[in-house]
Amino acid sequence: MQNSTLIWDEKHTPISRYFNDVYFNTDGAIDERTYVFINGNKLSERFLQHKQPIFTVGETGFGTGLSFLILWQTFLGFRKQHPDHILKKLQFFSVEKYPLTQSEMIKIHESVIHDQALKLLAKQLQQQLVNTTCLFNNVSLSILYNDVSHFPEFLAKQNIMIDAWFFDGFSPSKNPDMWSESLFKACYQLTSLGGTFATYSAGGFVRRNLISSGFIVNKCQGFGVKREMLLGYKNEITSPKK
Ligand SMILES: C[S@@+](CC[C@H](N)C(=O)[O-])C[C@H]1O[C@@H](n2cnc3c(N)ncnc32)[C@H](O)[C@@H]1O
Repeated sequence: MQNSTLIWDEKHTPISRYFNDVYFNTDGAIDERTYVFINGNKLSERFLQHKQPIFTVGETGFGTGLSFLILWQTFLGFRKQHPDHILKKLQFFSVEKYPLTQSEMIKIHESVIHDQALKLLAKQLQQQLVNTTCLFNNVSLSILYNDVSHFPEFLAKQNIMIDAWFFDGFSPSKNPDMWSESLFKACYQLTSLGGTFATYSAGGFVRRNLISSGFIVNKCQGFGVKREMLLGYKNEITSPKK
């Protein structure tokens, strides 16, 4: 594990020194992540329709853990509203090559999380992050601290199939490894039938790589000023393109 080299710009936006890119814009970060990843994967509806006890999410780039926290809160809301539903457990798998230190993560969470309930979840996450697998009652979090190229094998070895992907590398031009065709092909193979992905990116090569990996890809309205983003799914009928 390497120490992250996080820097804060003059607007208090956290930036990766490795990639010279923002983790997120501090204003609206939670709304944006909810819009792109939770709503983009239609998770509230999908939880309701799920016919198995476990729902599994995969993410490329754990970063600050903010997307995980929002998802966790969404799942707790679902369980509270539907205590008798067959879906009882959420599994979250992510990968991170440049983990933040605990103090960096605390600082980021303090800068962006204002909701009391989410703050409590963030505290639990901060305390457990030294472990590669964290258990929070009915929610489990596993992080592979390695390069993303090892992530598919990490999942395959555990026979994990992903119901929803959060593709969340830094900007594709600065972080192409997180958007490669070989990665998406491997992710496609690990996607359950009808499984979905969401990403804030709408870049041309990202779209092409997702399509050639087998995903059905749709361009959708992006968050705020962003014109477009990509959503998609694994078609139950076609097989992946070679
Ligand atoms: C935009 S951030 C992810 C934000 C995160 N999902 C969150 O909720 O804060 C992208 C992350 O991908 C990680 N990353 C970039 N290249 C990587 C690689 N080759 N392998 C694994 N992680 C990588 C970065 O260190 C960074 O934490």
